[in-house]
Amino acid sequence: MTDQMMMNVKPNQLMKATLQTETSTMVLLLLLLQLLSPLLLSCVAASAGPPRHLPPCQVVQMDVFCSDRSLRSAPVDLPQGVQLLDLSCNQVQNLTRETLAYHTGFYHLNLHANRIHFIQPGLFRDMTELKVLDLSKNHLSVFALSKVSIGPLTAVESLDLSGNGLYTGMSEYFLEESPSLVNLSLNSNSITKIAQNTFSGSSSLEKISLHNNVILEIEDGAFDSLRHLTELDLSKNSITCITDFNLYNLKVLNLSKNSMELFHSASSSQLYNLLNLDLSENKMLYFPFLPRTNVLQYLDVSRNHIQSFNVSGNPEKRANVFLTQLQYLDMSYNRLKTIPETFFCFMRSLEVLNVSNNCIGSFSLTVEGLLPTVKIINLSFNSLQTLTFGENSLPSLEKLFLQGNDLTTLDHHVFQKLPSIKYLQLQQNNLKICDSQQSPYDPELTEQNQVNPPDCVSLSSVRSLHFLYLSENNLQNLPANAFANTPLKLLDLSLNPGLDMDKDSLRGLEHSLVHLLLRENNISSLHTDLSLLQSLKHVDLSTNQLTSLPVWNRESSIESLNLQNNNLVTLDSSTMVALEHSLKTLYMGSNPLNCCSNLGFLNMVQRLAVVVPDIETVTCVHEDFSEPVNIEKLTEGMCQASSNSAYVVVVVVLVLLVVTMVVALLVKRRRSRKRKPNISFRA
Ligand SMILES: *[C@@H]1O[C@H](CO)[C@@H](O)[C@H](O)[C@H]1NC(C)=O
Ligand SMILES: *[C@@H]1O[C@H](CO)[C@@H](O)[C@H](O)[C@H]1NC(C)=O
Ligand SMILES: *[C@@H]1O[C@H](CO)[C@@H](O)[C@H](O)[C@H]1NC(C)=O
Ligand SMILES: *[C@@H]1O[C@H](CO)[C@@H](O)[C@H](O)[C@H]1NC(C)=O
Ligand SMILES: *[C@@H]1O[C@H](CO)[C@@H](O)[C@H](O)[C@H]1NC(C)=O
Ligand SMILES: *[C@@H]1O[C@H](CO)[C@@H](O)[C@H](O)[C@H]1NC(C)=O
Repeated sequence: MTDQMMMNVKPNQLMKATLQTETSTMVLLLLLLQLLSPLLLSCVAASAGPPRHLPPCQVVQMDVFCSDRSLRSAPVDLPQGVQLLDLSCNQVQNLTRETLAYHTGFYHLNLHANRIHFIQPGLFRDMTELKVLDLSKNHLSVFALSKVSIGPLTAVESLDLSGNGLYTGMSEYFLEESPSLVNLSLNSNSITKIAQNTFSGSSSLEKISLHNNVILEIEDGAFDSLRHLTELDLSKNSITCITDFNLYNLKVLNLSKNSMELFHSASSSQLYNLLNLDLSENKMLYFPFLPRTNVLQYLDVSRNHIQSFNVSGNPEKRANVFLTQLQYLDMSYNRLKTIPETFFCFMRSLEVLNVSNNCIGSFSLTVEGLLPTVKIINLSFNSLQTLTFGENSLPSLEKLFLQGNDLTTLDHHVFQKLPSIKYLQLQQNNLKICDSQQSPYDPELTEQNQVNPPDCVSLSSVRSLHFLYLSENNLQNLPANAFANTPLKLLDLSLNPGLDMDKDSLRGLEHSLVHLLLRENNISSLHTDLSLLQSLKHVDLSTNQLTSLPVWNRESSIESLNLQNNNLVTLDSSTMVALEHSLKTLYMGSNPLNCCSNLGFLNMVQRLAVVVPDIETVTCVHEDFSEPVNIEKLTEGMCQASSNSAYVVVVVVLVLLVVTMVVALLVKRRRSRKRKPNISFRA
């Protein structure tokens, strides 16, 4: 026995020896740092501001708030019976009875972001009410170097020691006697190893956070004494593998951002309570070996190097693990080439499946009722060639993301097999859209049907589909009735330059379509009558070659219209009138508008009847100016100037006319006067 103990002690003594030589230099260094760089602290304002003008602490009932006041200790006049003291972001260095003005009745002490490097041992012994103690962002590694324990944390349930520069073996000085401790944060320290005895003084722990340390090693049984432990955050460390994982009571385990190559549960059939396992951002080549008897709900293995579903190259092992409670599965950013359908067997609770950003070439789910509860499947950014769904294999699927797959051919009616599909992202593929299924008795249409390219996909009669994204598909044409019996609310056809839309292509969407996006399609004139779409509210026609507005020959319901970057010269005034009733937002920049032929539009803008968010770039061409004029600087007067000169001409002509008439009259009179005597003479 003694021999063994000696063996155990020896390395410790070695450690001590090396540590002690370093201790004094470390202390000096740290103190120097503190003295020289107060600005490095998180509470810059506190140390920089002049202390004199700082307001006194705020007192709310029994709670005292003294954050950020350049204090070295608590105010001496703390009210009797103070329960919460917030001294965060101050300059406390020594934490003693005196610093706390000899009060002991605290419930909550917040000392976050001070410069504490010394704690009076036994300080918390008599604080029998103290439940929450925040010592984060201090210099407690300096204290730990003195190898003195802070003494019992009699009642403390929540302790925050994050950001204190603590390294391996130091946390023990704070935890040795903490029987009530439930929540512990050791985040952002420099711990490299969790030793067997690390938590032996804090057996009530339920939640431990060790995020952002450099943990390389966890000694066998380090967490064994913690019967109540349910949450363990080991994210952002340097753990390379977990073998024989056997924390049966754990509910949440976060191993994200480590260097894990392997996760292997103990091969026992005992029930694991684990609900949430995050293994994202590691280096696993294989799917983790999960507990056989599990209730796992959330599993994230995204951003690993998983190539296959075999566990450690052994295909039989996985077969015993059924993930019947799993609701969320993220396998995105891996190297999967295929996913066998059998992988999903018994996943009868799965709701979200993310397998995007892999190299999957073909995906099929054909077994009836295979994934009865799946609502979201994200297959975006793979290299899908084929996609197959069986009737009723995905009865609940609402959202399907297939963006960025280069899909060219699809089973014509693949989407009709998804009875609940609402949201379909198909952008960045190479699809062709079929004409809607034609009635056999209509000979003309049947003929058209034969014209359908053989590799098109049908988007008509997808009875629940509301949102459809088809941008960047190199779509050449959109046949008539392409979306018949599909109650689309949003249709994005942007970035298909040269898209030829049949004038009846949107037929069937008269009462449903609200958003229509036709950005960057090189459209010079729209053949489709948008005014038939009675629910349409938002239209994006930006970056096309439009020379005239689409015609609205009835009262429109359009609320926002984007006409940016087209070739519009004159805005048809009757269309503007039709639009004005409903239009709230109009984008109009980068068009070669003519100034004086669009006074109706100018009027609209000036009366603030419509918001033009890009007004800065809305310019028009005026013959009197060499540069385009900003529409805001244009006045009606500038256009009346030319009509004024016309007016002058008219006036001049009129005056001339009157003058000539008068002259003519005078001449006539004089003549008649001359005649008069003649007449009288005659008389
Ligand atoms: C902190 O306490 C130590 C030891 O009790 C003492 O030597 C030191 O002067 C104190 N520093 C301050 C700033 O009170
Ligand atoms: C422990 O942490 C959990 C989750 O952060 C929180 O809900 C709970 O109130 C905390 N318990 C204590 C005693 O601070
Ligand atoms: C695990 O930790 C990472 C990094 O801190 C965090 O982003 C992630 O949300 C955590 N996972 C869970 C499931 O809480
Ligand atoms: C995977 O997809 C789901 C659903 O689309 C999403 O909520 C999740 O954030 C994605 N995962 C990553 C790593 O982006
Ligand atoms: C699909 O998953 C990727 C991560 O792989 C994510 O970035 C993307 O946002 C997800 N798509 C949706 C629509 O949730
Ligand atoms: C856009 O249309 C014009 C004719 O209107 C044509 O000359 C041009 O090549 C088209 N550009 C693209 C990218 O289709």
